[in-house]
Amino acid sequence: MTAKDIIEKYISFFEKRGHKRIPNASLVPENDPTTLFTSSGMQPLVPYLLGEPHPSGKRLVNVQNSFRAQDIDEIGDNRHTTFFRMLGNWSLDDYFKKEQLPWFFELLTKELGLSPKKLYVTVFEGNKDVPKDSESANIWKEIFESVGLDPKERISYYGVDKNWWSRAGVPENMPANEPGGPDSEVFYDFGTPHDKKFGEKCHPNCNCGRFLEIGNSVFMEYQKQKDGSFKKLPQKNVDFGGGLERLLAAVENKSDMFQTSLFSPIIKAIGQHTDATYKNHSKQIRIIADHFIAGILIASNGVSPSNKEQGYILRRLLRRGFENLHNLGGNNIVPIVESIIDQYKETDPNLVKNFEKVKYTILEEEKAYLETLENAKSFIRKKYGTRVGGELKGVVEISAQDAFQLYSTHGLFPTQIENLGFIFDKQAFAQEMEKHQELSRKGSGQKFKGGLADHSEKTIMGHTATHLMHQAIRDILGNHVYQTGSNITTKRIRFDFNYDKKLTDDEIKKVEDTVNEKINENLKVHFEMMPLKKAKEIGAIGLFDEKYQENVKVYFIGDYSKEFCGGPHVDFTSKLKQFKIIKQDNIGKGQRRLYSIAG
Ligand code: SER
Repeated sequence: MTAKDIIEKYISFFEKRGHKRIPNASLVPENDPTTLFTSSGMQPLVPYLLGEPHPSGKRLVNVQNSFRAQDIDEIGDNRHTTFFRMLGNWSLDDYFKKEQLPWFFELLTKELGLSPKKLYVTVFEGNKDVPKDSESANIWKEIFESVGLDPKERISYYGVDKNWWSRAGVPENMPANEPGGPDSEVFYDFGTPHDKKFGEKCHPNCNCGRFLEIGNSVFMEYQKQKDGSFKKLPQKNVDFGGGLERLLAAVENKSDMFQTSLFSPIIKAIGQHTDATYKNHSKQIRIIADHFIAGILIASNGVSPSNKEQGYILRRLLRRGFENLHNLGGNNIVPIVESIIDQYKETDPNLVKNFEKVKYTILEEEKAYLETLENAKSFIRKKYGTRVGGELKGVVEISAQDAFQLYSTHGLFPTQIENLGFIFDKQAFAQEMEKHQELSRKGSGQKFKGGLADHSEKTIMGHTATHLMHQAIRDILGNHVYQTGSNITTKRIRFDFNYDKKLTDDEIKKVEDTVNEKINENLKVHFEMMPLKKAKEIGAIGLFDEKYQENVKVYFIGDYSKEFCGGPHVDFTSKLKQFKIIKQDNIGKGQRRLYSIAG
């Protein structure tokens, strides 16, 4: 059974049960400034889980290309990938636990042919806000009893860390209005021996490699409230997600996902075009496979490597992929790209259409990466060359400051610096990094970003209002006035600036009127990355005292405001609806504080 067979069986199983197939949403989400990539099937469905009617009805099914950048550091083990395909089915206020759990069990055992003996499940143990999920446990009990297995051995309870799902993770991290709920996961047992390094006793959520989570049914029926409590949503939803690659590993009983029929031709191509064997270099080979698969899928969505947002992630993936490929003696990425496209073209036909473009993007990035390495070497050669006879031979010890410069201006990560043959004091490097982060924190870019309490719609609206207010205040009080701090929550905007007089009622009204005028003009909000020098030349406002900052992100609101900032923002000012100043304070040291609301 191939990955494609699993997709077809899954989709038709749920279509037979009244589900409508919905399209695979773009991997790069449209109109969602809060996230760079689609990371689960439910992400484009949030409005419908909250109650908006869906044009395809109450039962939906699909397969969704997903990317999770936060998993990037875990790549190299036998089960994590950054890019994966998620099989998903949803009930929007329709069926619930007693249909979902038996259906998934039936799919696994009857359609995909897994032995019930290989399956273990987990349910939510309850917390102060949400009771223990005894209903799911009872349903599982009946299911296991029906196939002659002892439910006590099969069902385990876990808390919010493992059996609660929301986009923000555990309940305490969820912003107000976010939907979430307890979930029930199914694990496949590979029967591999337990490794005590991971704990005395093995259990489904143990990381020793024996168990693999192959599907998650989220019972999304709660919504976080502004006061931190949880209320039931007006509707009960099922949000199921199962990783296709993991289901394939279970079907083929391969505890190493990279050894399944989906990945093995790619792993073979990497072996043929490097000096390495999978047995001896499995970690590097998995990184190469994962990073180029994800890179190809992202590039085929029209993203080019750059220093911003999706482009930055793509650049990081490709460069880390090349770093590992070159280390293993590989210098021809084309056959590896071809093997990836061969494996994914059936489900992603646009890969064939975009092949030349994707190949060009990857080869150009390899060139740019090699140039970066040369520039870094010549920087070090200039500084240290004479000490080793004009040439750099063998391992050269460089200062942590210079290593940091290679990181901050040449974009090289510590392992890439080491691969060039340069060693440095890692602890001192970490201290440089901390100093740098501190400076950013002090600078406006981070301060503005750090000033956001969360990334909810309301907070993002407040953030854009802050930029308009900043410019309006300068227009009315003079260009010597600038922002000294901000803190934005869903409830209000707090804005500090250097001004030692109380604002008159007239001045307050002028600021409000100007901001409201800009809201009514419905100005477009966008950002550009540019060298610090250019940002200053075009008159962008912000604190430009960062020592290490070469490139900055500048947000434009029409041609009214240009400000050095990390984002995020609304796309058009009309989203803010209206703006009002509600209070002003003197906070000492010649500074004033305004409280306002937008929306
Ligand atoms: N949203 C859940 C997940 O991503 C189930 O689809 O695991």
